[in-house]
Amino acid sequence: MMKLTLLIVLSLRIGSYGVEENQTDPSPGFDNGRDSWDDFFHKSDKFIPSHYDIDLRPIFEDGPEGTRHSMPGKVRIVGTTYKKTNKIRLTSNCNELNISSVKVISNGAPIPIENVNEEGLHINLEQRVGGGNTIEVYIEYIAKIQQEKFWKGFLHLPCDTKNDAECNKTQIAVSGFNIKLLGTHCGTIFPCVGDRDLSSTFNLSLSSKNEYGTAANGELVSTSPDSELKGWTVDKYTWSTKQRWSLLAFTVFKDYSYVESFFGKEKKPVKIYAPKEHINSKNGLYTSIVSSVAKILTFYEEYFGTSANVPKMELFFVPTTFDDFGTWFMKSKGLNFYNVLDIIPNKENEKSTEIRVIQHVAESLARQWVGDWWDPEPEMSFLFIESILRYMEYLGLSQVNPALVEAAIYYDIQKAEELDREERDADIQFIVSHKRKVTLLFRMFEGITGWRVDSLQSGIRNYFNRLWNENGTKVTTEELYEILQNSTESQKLPFDVATILSSFVDNVGIPLVRVGIANETHFVFKQERFRYQESIDKINDGVWYLPVTYTHGIGNTRHTIWLTPDQNVTYVQGNTSELLLVNPDATGYYRTLYEDSSLLQMLQQQLEMNHTEIKPLTRAVLLSDYFTFADEKYETYGAALNLTTYLSEGSTNETSLVVWKTFLSKFSGTYDKFISHPQYPRLKNFLSAKLTNVLDYTSSPKTSEEIILRDYLLETACKLNNPHCQTMAKELFSQWRVNPNDSSPLDHFYPASRPILECAIVRNGGQEAYDFIMAKYRQGVQADGTTTWLTRYILKSLACASDKTIFKGFIELILTPPPSGAIKGYNLDYITDHVLSTPLPDGREMLLPFIFKNFDLVFENSGTYHGIPAMINKLTRSWEFSTAEKKKEIQELFKLLEKKVEGVNAMGYIRQVYEQLDVNIQWMDNQGNDILSTIP
Ligand SMILES: *[C@@H]1O[C@H](CO)[C@@H](O)[C@H](O)[C@H]1NC(C)=O
Ligand SMILES: *[C@@H]1O[C@H](CO)[C@@H](O)[C@H](O)[C@H]1NC(C)=O
Ligand SMILES: *[C@@H]1O[C@H](CO)[C@@H](O)[C@H](O)[C@H]1NC(C)=O
Ligand SMILES: *[C@@H]1O[C@H](CO)[C@@H](O)[C@H](O)[C@H]1NC(C)=O
Ligand SMILES: *[C@@H]1O[C@H](CO)[C@@H](O)[C@H](O)[C@H]1NC(C)=O
Ligand SMILES: *[C@@H]1O[C@H](CO)[C@@H](O)[C@H](O)[C@H]1NC(C)=O
Repeated sequence: MMKLTLLIVLSLRIGSYGVEENQTDPSPGFDNGRDSWDDFFHKSDKFIPSHYDIDLRPIFEDGPEGTRHSMPGKVRIVGTTYKKTNKIRLTSNCNELNISSVKVISNGAPIPIENVNEEGLHINLEQRVGGGNTIEVYIEYIAKIQQEKFWKGFLHLPCDTKNDAECNKTQIAVSGFNIKLLGTHCGTIFPCVGDRDLSSTFNLSLSSKNEYGTAANGELVSTSPDSELKGWTVDKYTWSTKQRWSLLAFTVFKDYSYVESFFGKEKKPVKIYAPKEHINSKNGLYTSIVSSVAKILTFYEEYFGTSANVPKMELFFVPTTFDDFGTWFMKSKGLNFYNVLDIIPNKENEKSTEIRVIQHVAESLARQWVGDWWDPEPEMSFLFIESILRYMEYLGLSQVNPALVEAAIYYDIQKAEELDREERDADIQFIVSHKRKVTLLFRMFEGITGWRVDSLQSGIRNYFNRLWNENGTKVTTEELYEILQNSTESQKLPFDVATILSSFVDNVGIPLVRVGIANETHFVFKQERFRYQESIDKINDGVWYLPVTYTHGIGNTRHTIWLTPDQNVTYVQGNTSELLLVNPDATGYYRTLYEDSSLLQMLQQQLEMNHTEIKPLTRAVLLSDYFTFADEKYETYGAALNLTTYLSEGSTNETSLVVWKTFLSKFSGTYDKFISHPQYPRLKNFLSAKLTNVLDYTSSPKTSEEIILRDYLLETACKLNNPHCQTMAKELFSQWRVNPNDSSPLDHFYPASRPILECAIVRNGGQEAYDFIMAKYRQGVQADGTTTWLTRYILKSLACASDKTIFKGFIELILTPPPSGAIKGYNLDYITDHVLSTPLPDGREMLLPFIFKNFDLVFENSGTYHGIPAMINKLTRSWEFSTAEKKKEIQELFKLLEKKVEGVNAMGYIRQVYEQLDVNIQWMDNQGNDILSTIP
C-alpha cells in the first residue's frame, strides 16, 4: 500500500503540466533535445492529438497471417502542433515499426521526412511546420501480444490448466492500461502521445478469425468480413467523446458466452461474459448476478440523473492463473475484467457465491460513472473521489442486500478506527487509505435531522458533473465543500459544510460522546477526544463540529444536537427515566459512552426484550464501542459482556452477521488470553453456550446470509470445540473417506473456511483422520510441490491433532531431517511459523510440555540457539501464557537452555518473553479477573 501511494503521488506530480498558449517562437534549447528534463515532461507541447484511427489484427496461432502473439497494426493520428517545429514526438514501446510506412501530412500536403528516430519514436521533418497546424501521422507496425506483463499492453491470459485441462479451448486477450503506475503506456499497443492528461477521440478496427469475438468500451459501429483475409472479421468501434487513452478497453476472445439483462430507462444492455462451459453449468448463478448488476446500474442512473457515460456494460469473468489480473484498474467505463478464480470458488454453494460476487463487483460498478479518474491536481480531490465512490458503493449494495451494506460500513468503521489510533499521522489529506473515514463522514450527513438525503445526492451530482466536463475542470477541496454547501441551501445547518467536514479532515482521532443524566428532566451530552491507553499524542485537545443524533424511546422522532469546540456540553430536555438511544442509525462518526448505568441498563433491557427494534449496525456499533471501552479502561468488561446477554437469551436469537462479526472479532483477542489459564474452561463454556442457538439456526442454512453466517461462526465454534463443529467435522470426514479420490467435500465451503474444517477433522478424527490427511498432504506435494496454499494448509491442519501421541509423532516427523523425514522441506521454522498459528489451539498447548520432554531433539534441530527462545517468544506474544505458574515453567525451560548455551539470559528474545509474561499476568489480574467475575 505504501509503495502504491508513493507511486500515485509521484505520478501525480509528473502528470501535472499545463498546455500553454500558442507560441510562434520556439525555444531552441527545447527543440534540439539538450534540455532533457523539459523534453521528458513536455513532450506533447508540440503535437497534441485529437483523434486516432487504429487498426489491429491480433494473431493467436502461427499461420499465413503472421506469427503467434504478434499484432500487426496501423495508426493514423490527427493532431495540432502548438509551436513551430520540425519534430513529431510519439511514444512506442516494444513495437516493430515499418519505417518506410511513416507519412506526415500537414494541411493536406505530405511533408518530407528527414529520418525517424525509432528510440522513443521521434519523426524529424525536413521542414518546420507552423504552430496550430493540423497534422496527420500515419504508421504501420507490428505490436507484441504480451504474455507476462499485462500492465504493459495487450495480454493473452494463461488459463488454469492444472485444475482444468480443457481450459485451453477458451482464449482471451485484454488491454490493460494502468494510469496510476508509471511506465504504462498506450505506446505498447499503438504509437501515441503518452501524456496521461490528454484526451482524444478514437476509432478502432479489430480484426480476428471468425471463431473469435471482440468487445470494447466504445460504440460498435460495424461488423463485416475482413476484405484482406478470408475467414476473418473486422469489428469497428468508435469513441466519439474525447477521453484519455487510459480509459480505452478492448478484448478478443474465443469460446466465451454471456448472460444478459438491461438497465435504466433506455434499457441499455448489461452482459456477463464467461467461458461457455461456466455459463452453461452455472447458468442460474450468472443469471441472477447479471440481474443484480442491472438493478444496481438502474439505481445509479436514477441517482446521477444520467447514464450517458456508459452506453452499455460488459463484465468479463476470466479464469486465469495470472495473479494480478482483475485488480481495480481493470474496470474501465463499461468494460470490466474480473478473475473468476478469485471470486467464484469452483464448488461453493451457489447462493453464498452470488452474494460474494456482488460484493466484489459493486465497487467497479460505482466507478463506471467516473472511470479510472485521473485528476493530477489537486491531490486532495483524489481522496474525495475515492470516498464518494465508496459511498456510492454502499448505496448500490443496498439495492441488493442490506446485510452487504452493513458489512461494508462496519469494515470501514474498523479501518477508520485503526487509522485514527495513529494520532500522530495528523495529515489525512494526502493519504488515500483515509477514504474509508471520509466515506463515513459523508454518510454522517444522512443522520442529521432536517437534512434531506437528496441534498447530498444533488451535491454529488453537481460534483461529478464538474468532473465529467470534457474540459477536465479541476475541483478543489474548497469547491467541493462549496458545491455541497450550495446543495444544502434550502435547509438550515447551523454550520457550513466546510466547517463540519474540515474539523474531521484536518483533525484525526475519534470523538467520544458522553451521555449522562443531569437531573430528572435533562440529559447532558459532552464531547471529548477518545484516548487509547498507548495514545501517542496526548497534547492534541481539538474537538469537532459534531452532529449527535438520538431518539428518546424506540422508533420515535430523531433529533440532532451539535457539539462544537465552543460548546462541548449541551443539555437536552427529556424524561430521563425513559430509554435514550444515541446514534440510532450508526451514521455518526463517534463513540457513545452512557455515563449513567441506568441508561445502559435500559438499552440492555431493550435488547433482551426485542433487539430487532434497534438496527443491526447500531447493535454492532454499541458492542464495538463497549468492548473498546473495556480494552481502553473507560468501562468494565462486565458492562460490555452484559450487553451480549441477549445474543442467546433474548426472545429471539441474534442472527445478524454484522453483530456476530463485531462481537467475535472484538472478543476473540480477549478470549485467547485465557487459553493457558486454569479458568479457561469456564470462559469456553460461556462463549460456547452463546453460540449454540445461532449454530442450530444456521445448521441447515436456507438463505445466502445464513450460509455466510454459518461459515463465519465455524471458526469460533471449532476453536471452542463446540459440538456443532465436532459433528460437522465427523460428517465431512466420513463423506470424504468414502470417496477419497473425489474432490474434497470441503470444496463446497467458502475457501476461507477450509483450513478450520480440515483442522477440525484432524482434531476430532484420531489416528485415522490424521493418516488420511497426511496421505492427502503427500499427494498434494507430489502434484503441486510444497508451496501452494492448499498444501501448506493441509500440513498446518496436521498440527491440530489433539491426541498427545499423534501430535508428538507429527512434531518428531518435522524435526527429522530429510531424506528420512517425510515432511519435505520443513523444520523447526515450520513449528514457529505454522504450529503456532494453526486455527485451533491444541497444538500450541502441547508444545511447551513437548519441548520439555524432548529438549535435546528440539535443541539440536533449532538451527541456532535462538530457535527455542524465538518460539517461546511467539507463544507468549499470542497471549498463551498469562499465569505465574507458566512463568515458572518457562524459567525452568530457559535453565535447560542455559546448560547448553552460556549467557542465555542476556538474550533479547528472553528479555522480551519475560516482559510480555509480566504484561500478560498483570492483565489477567485486572481485566482478566473482571471478566471472570462477570461470567457464570
Ligand atoms: C492557436 O492557433 C490556432 C490556429 O492558428 C487557433 O485556432 C487557436 O485559437 C490558437 N490558440 C490560442 C490559445 O491562441
Ligand atoms: C495449453 O496451452 C499452453 C500454451 O500454449 C500449452 O503450454 C499447454 O500445454 C496447453 N495445455 C493443454 C492441456 O493443452
Ligand atoms: C470546453 O471548452 C470549449 C472551448 O473553450 C467550449 O466550447 C466547450 O463548451 C467546453 N465544454 C464544456 C462541456 O464546458
Ligand atoms: C454556489 O452558489 C453561489 C451563489 O449562488 C454561486 O455564486 C457559486 O458559484 C456556487 N458555487 C459552486 C461551486 O457551484
Ligand atoms: C436540570 O438541568 C437543566 C440544565 O442544567 C436546568 O436548566 C434545569 O433547571 C434543571 N432542572 C431541575 C429540576 O433541576
Ligand atoms: C470544553 O469547554 C470548556 C470550556 O470552554 C473547556 O474548559 C474544556 O476543556 C472543554 N473540553 C474539551 C474536552 O474540549
